[in-house]
This record gives sequence, structure tokens and C-alpha cells, in this order.
Amino acid sequence: MKFYFAPLEGVSGYIYRNAYHKHFVGFDRYFTPFIAPKKNQALSSKELRDVLPENNQGMTLIPQILTNQVDYFLATSQKLYDLGYREVNLNLGCPSGTVVTKKKGAGFLAELDRLEHFLTDVTEELSKMGMALSIKTRIGLQETAEFTEIIELYNEYSLAELIVHPRLQKEQYTGKPHWEIFAQAVEQSKNSLCYNGDIFTVEDYQRFCLDFPQIERVMLGRGVLRNPNLLAEIKGEKLADFNRLKQFHDDIFQGYQRDFSGEKPVIFKMRELWGYLLPLIPEGSQYAKKIHKADRIKEYEQIVEQIFSVQ
Ligand SMILES: Cc1cc2nc3c(=O)[nH]c(=O)nc-3n(C[C@H](O)[C@H](O)[C@H](O)COP(=O)(O)O)c2cc1C
Repeated sequence: MKFYFAPLEGVSGYIYRNAYHKHFVGFDRYFTPFIAPKKNQALSSKELRDVLPENNQGMTLIPQILTNQVDYFLATSQKLYDLGYREVNLNLGCPSGTVVTKKKGAGFLAELDRLEHFLTDVTEELSKMGMALSIKTRIGLQETAEFTEIIELYNEYSLAELIVHPRLQKEQYTGKPHWEIFAQAVEQSKNSLCYNGDIFTVEDYQRFCLDFPQIERVMLGRGVLRNPNLLAEIKGEKLADFNRLKQFHDDIFQGYQRDFSGEKPVIFKMRELWGYLLPLIPEGSQYAKKIHKADRIKEYEQIVEQIFSVQ
């Protein structure tokens, strides 16, 4: 089995990725949070920093792009090519209202004719450049029946791979992933498949493998945010201790202090991280309020010291 780390906008940028890769069991591939090209700007300075090869050493990184414009997609791909990338991933899964209204992300699945033109042009140009295309997709917007036309469309193209998160746009992250639709993908897809969705524990992973023994790629997202040791546990490797978690935390904390100006944005990002990590800490919930209230670095550091000193 190959394991991929999901793109997680706002969380899994290069600082988090590097800290994870250094302290825990590495993934075979990491996907960047989506890059959203704009007119005259293939990559913002933040997006560029996230994909610079020197910021991503020792790991395989696939940049992801969110757009419905052929020229934007290709301009960004060209920049990525110049940086050394040979594969880009198209986001057809983002369920957020603002993105979907603009017919991007999962919203692009509402316009399959336009998506067909987009994919035809993009695959043709990318192949001239010597670049491969992979897609990360949801299974539709409102009804699971939409997937039949969607998979037929993808079958017209030779993709590096097709990553399927088997939820509808309207479901956001609620309910269970539709494994029956993923089974349909397994039956019908001409492209090789990667599964993504709700693998939070070793048991979830084992259940998936029992149901889909033919699948050789799995992408993990929130499960890793909540338990950075998840991949080690899945692979049956040594359990991590809290010291490792502390080093991981400290690397991220230092990285954010380097990248952001001012204390508030750093603390804001660290709060978000603790939102995922606190349930892992025995008695962790008692620190939630304190972390939320801290608004100076000094204060934050004291709370973190308390958290790790009692472990
Ligand atoms: C905070 C957050 C940010 C996300 N950002 C992206 C993104 O930039 N691109 C993308 O394709 N999916 C994004 N996703 C979706 C995840 O990549 C993944 O498909 C989803 O969380 C389901 O997998 P999981 O159950 O393993 O977390 C995001 C999800 C979350 C929770």
C-alpha cells in the first residue's frame, strides 16, 4: 500500500509537512493545499514558498490547483514545471460555498460539458510540457447517481491517478463516505484509484482493506491531524511518545514564528493545531480554554509547557 497525505488548506503547509516528515513515519506522497491562481498571478508569494524545492526536501510533493480556467491552470503548471514538478493535481472536491458558487472545486462537477473542454485542453497542453495530471474528486453535488457521468468523463483521459473522496458536495464532511460509489469507481475506472475519506484508526484502515483488497493507494487527512502517529500504527511500527509530539509541536511553532509577523497570527494557527491534537492528550480538554484565551507568545508557551510536563 502507498500512503498519501491529503491537502489540508490552512494546516498542511510546508511548515507542518516538514515537521511531520521529520518526526513521524513519512508518507509516499504529500499534496499541497490548493493553489488558487489569479489573473496575472500564477502563484502568490505564500503559494510559492509552499512549493519551493528547498522547503520540501526529502519528500515527494504534488502541487494541487483549484481553478476552472484553462489558461490559469496552465500558467501555474508552467511555473511548477520550472520549479521541477512533473505532476499537478486538479481539485474537483472543495465543497465550500464560495468556491462552489464560482463553479470551481466540487462546483465544477455541475458543468460536465465545460469540464470536458477544460480537461481536453489541459491534458493536451500538459502532455506537450511533459507533465502528468491527477485529479482529486468528490462523487457529485446532490445525488450519488451523478457519479456515473463523472466517471465516464474521467475515463476519456489518461490520468496519473484518480483520488476519490466518495462524498457529495452537499454532505460537506458529514455522514459516512459512500463506499458503494467507491465500489462503482473500482469497477468502472480506467485510471488507477486512490481512496480518501474517514480513515481515522487502524481499524478503519483494516476494514477498508478487507472491502477493497485491490486498492493500493490510500490518502489520509484529518486522521493524521488528530493522531500524527496514525501511519506508524497502521504500519505496525513503534508507538510515538509525547517527547516526539513536543518536538513536532516546537518545530511547527518555530516555523510559524519565522513566517508570520506579529504574535496573534502565530497563536491563531497554533490554536487550530491544538483543536486537532488536544483529544490525544490525557486530560487535554482542561487546556482548551487556556489555549483559546492566550494571546501572547509567552502565555502560550507556559500553557504548552504545562501540557507536556504532565505527560
Ligand atoms: C481543514 C481542511 C482543509 C482542506 N483543504 C483541502 C485542499 O486544499 N484541497 C483538497 O483537495 N482537499 C482539502 N480538504 C479535504 C481533504 O483533503 C480530504 O479530502 C478530506 O478531509 C477527507 O479525508 P479525511 O477523512 O482523511 O480527512 C480539506 C479538508 C479539511 C478538513
